[in-house]
Amino acid sequence: RGPDPVSATGVPLDVPQSARSQSGAYLTTSQGTRLPDTDHSLKAGDRGPILLRDHHLREKITHFDHERIPERVVHARGAAAHGVFRSYGSASSLTFAGFLAEDVETPVFVRFSTVLGSRGSADTVRDTRGFAVKFYTAEGTFDLVGNNIPVFFIQDAIKFPDVVHAAKPHPDREIPQAQSAHDTFWDFVSLHTEAQHHTMWNMSDRGIPRSYRTMEGFGIHTFRLIAADGSTTLVKWHWKPVAGVHSLVWEEAQLISGMDPDFHRRDLADAIEAGAYPQWELGVQVLEDTADQTYAGIDLLDPTKIVPEELAPVQPIGLLTLTGNPINYFAETEQVAFHPGNLVPGIDVTDDPLLAGRLFSYIDTQITRLGGPNFGQLPINRPQAPVNDMLRDGMHQTAVHGGVAPYRPNSLDGGCPFTADAASGGYVEVAQPLPASQKVRAAPASFADHFSQPRIFYRSLTEVEQQHLIEAYSFELSKCYEETIRLRQLQALAEIDTELCAAVAAGLGVEAPSASEPPGEVEPSPALSQVGGEWPVA
Ligand code: HEM
Repeated sequence: RGPDPVSATGVPLDVPQSARSQSGAYLTTSQGTRLPDTDHSLKAGDRGPILLRDHHLREKITHFDHERIPERVVHARGAAAHGVFRSYGSASSLTFAGFLAEDVETPVFVRFSTVLGSRGSADTVRDTRGFAVKFYTAEGTFDLVGNNIPVFFIQDAIKFPDVVHAAKPHPDREIPQAQSAHDTFWDFVSLHTEAQHHTMWNMSDRGIPRSYRTMEGFGIHTFRLIAADGSTTLVKWHWKPVAGVHSLVWEEAQLISGMDPDFHRRDLADAIEAGAYPQWELGVQVLEDTADQTYAGIDLLDPTKIVPEELAPVQPIGLLTLTGNPINYFAETEQVAFHPGNLVPGIDVTDDPLLAGRLFSYIDTQITRLGGPNFGQLPINRPQAPVNDMLRDGMHQTAVHGGVAPYRPNSLDGGCPFTADAASGGYVEVAQPLPASQKVRAAPASFADHFSQPRIFYRSLTEVEQQHLIEAYSFELSKCYEETIRLRQLQALAEIDTELCAAVAAGLGVEAPSASEPPGEVEPSPALSQVGGEWPVA
């Protein structure tokens, strides 16, 4: 019998004793029958054949045969921790979400991950990192499912299978586990130049974090907050590590991959065990909710764009502290199920076409990964608010529902005395006007600029950081077998910054192409409203 999960972690693993599998002084079968021996099969005589009637043997092996579940289709390798989020209350003028009111403490579970390697891959590869936070609020669960890079590869969820197929290991040899050192990755990002911005962040030092504890986190998409008076604001979520942002250098990352492939998960667990609790401030960039949902010429529905912090500073709204390691990797880190659609009253999504696809995808994949529709009942996924849904039955149902009429109104179970209405605090989507429109299968013109933001990013780096980035592009592109792909990627770099392109070309020993005039390029307007600096701090 393990330690009590609540006192060991100080966090939300609210597992009733009855649901825990290890209790009592004796080993038993799964049905609780006491075992005389679990080391020898039942045989016909000392050296005779094993008997099929040995139920304990068959139960033990059958259960073992089914111990593995499919790994996540992306973000398979991860490490997680329990903690607490304390809200400063400074966002309470922007949203009536209860957990963002002043001095509210909310238990959280946070899972960090790499995106592309399998469950057994190394921690320090060059890749994006997942940064997923589950807030167990009193008003239901809120998931902030972000990454350590503020932009994404694609602008429309319909391309997610394509980018992942391109970035995952090649289907023939199943290499590499790292993201970028292969032909299909560079083929994709050079043909889909919207991916250039995210790729540049990957090639920068941000692609090889020193520790999960020293990574920023970003919600990426623009979200909408709703205030008590019904007014709305657009926000971008940011996690700022109190320990600062630190990366490895490439040689360190390579050495560590060999010497300690578990470097990041070990670092996280060791820090927490030693009482050096990792902390992040949660902040928001606050943007006016205008009819066109743009800011300073930047389309806020385009997840390949940031809003520079110089234009809209990040306003701190709370502090996250990780205080407890999971007791059981499988039960917690592996079975946790995040979903960007897990929202609480006061927070809503926008029409970012990437986010819309995510709202469908997570629950769908989890039905396969976690064996049916009842994974919300797993201890790590259980809300810490009362749950009273009318969902019934299904694979792995663990609830014993009473009553006969799971519908409302009804005339059999007392007419269903439970309320479901907006007036008494139900979740209400913002009544955002829909554009007068016709069906369109195309990207808006405002999504066409693929180069100005990577250019801003490259030019914002110090000389040393620029040198690291040039070396990263040169190294990763040198792994491409196809010359044409390398040249196409160099062409994209030429559109971003000719000096960068020349330096990478020199690293590859080829001639640098010259820049063409990319169509549709828009520099962010310098005439900026200062909404970000003026929001009312409660
Ligand atoms: C998993 C972030 C885009 C589908 C994850 C995880 C993170 C994440 C952090 C791991 C969650 C965990 O630790 O369990 C993001 C971000 C995105 C993005 C920040 C863009 C801004 C997408 C899109 C799709 C998608 C566009 C599909 C249309 C998935 C799936 C999983 C996943 C299927 C596995 C979930 C599971 O098995 O539980 N994503 N993702 N993601 N993501 Fe995304």
